[in-house]
Amino acid sequence: MGAATANNLDELRDKILKLKKDLNAVIMAHNYQRPEVQDIADFVGDSLELARKATQLDVEVIVFCAVHFMAESAAILNPTRTVLLAESTAGCPMADMIDADDLKEWRKRYPKATVVCYVNTTAAVKAESDICCTSANAVKVVESVPNDEILFIPDQNLGHYVSTKTKKRIISYPGYCITHARLNARQVIMAKQAHPDAKVVVHPECTAEVIELADAVFSTSQMAKYIKESKAKKFLIGTEEGLVHRLKKENPDKTFYVISRALMCPNMKRTTLEGLAQTMELKRNVIVIPEDIRLRAQRALDRMLAIA
Ligand code: 13P
Ligand code: SF4
Repeated sequence: MGAATANNLDELRDKILKLKKDLNAVIMAHNYQRPEVQDIADFVGDSLELARKATQLDVEVIVFCAVHFMAESAAILNPTRTVLLAESTAGCPMADMIDADDLKEWRKRYPKATVVCYVNTTAAVKAESDICCTSANAVKVVESVPNDEILFIPDQNLGHYVSTKTKKRIISYPGYCITHARLNARQVIMAKQAHPDAKVVVHPECTAEVIELADAVFSTSQMAKYIKESKAKKFLIGTEEGLVHRLKKENPDKTFYVISRALMCPNMKRTTLEGLAQTMELKRNVIVIPEDIRLRAQRALDRMLAIA
């Protein structure tokens, strides 16, 4: 990087820090964000941690460097605060695979089922659901509901993973993450052959064939914890490559190989420091949710957060 670029970056960082002070804001970033975005954030975490943290902040503005549903969850939980999404076009294709009308149709098909919705959904879908979950607590949430029949939306891979950990009947909606779906068993097998002493750690959004080959299956922050505590020195990573920045920072003595170069979520990468600064300067991309939807969506999120 040239000196001029470094100076510009420093100026940009200073500008963001000043805006943060002026707005009385906090910057939250998901584990998949670009390194420089993670580094300027006050808090970096997985979906569950970000949602939980959003309920514990004493600020006027929450700026989200992530995808839309994550900022929306913060807005659902914080009706009196302003929530800004750093990059307005950052969505989650999986969250867009189901809308409230689709869910109403599925409810008609399975009228006795409890609807557990992955947090990767819109507020309108959460509003039609009984309880939310994230990849960090999906099994716990399913076990917590007093019903043996679960309609799990929208991630069929996470739904399938949960079904292997519970005796309950899981009916999965056929959504999926287009990024994690790009990882296949052959790539994992080849990576294992190349690095036989490495542990394979994957996200439950991966397909069942990939999960079967893994040593550990975790949410992004659970992966970070597992790797920090592990005695192993090498890890094959089966999730979006942005997590590796955090893993390297926290484990300078360990080596990480992202199993496929296709493990890159273009939506997570849309947020840049420039875009973040502009969003804060203009106070744009405010998340607005109709109050009747917000209240019903909050019920589903609150039920999840009540589970330890
Ligand atoms: P985590 O909650 O594990 O961070 O996952 C969020 C996500 O979108 C994974 O693709
Ligand atoms: Fe959505 Fe997949 Fe990107 Fe996560 S990695 S935000 S599930 S598209």
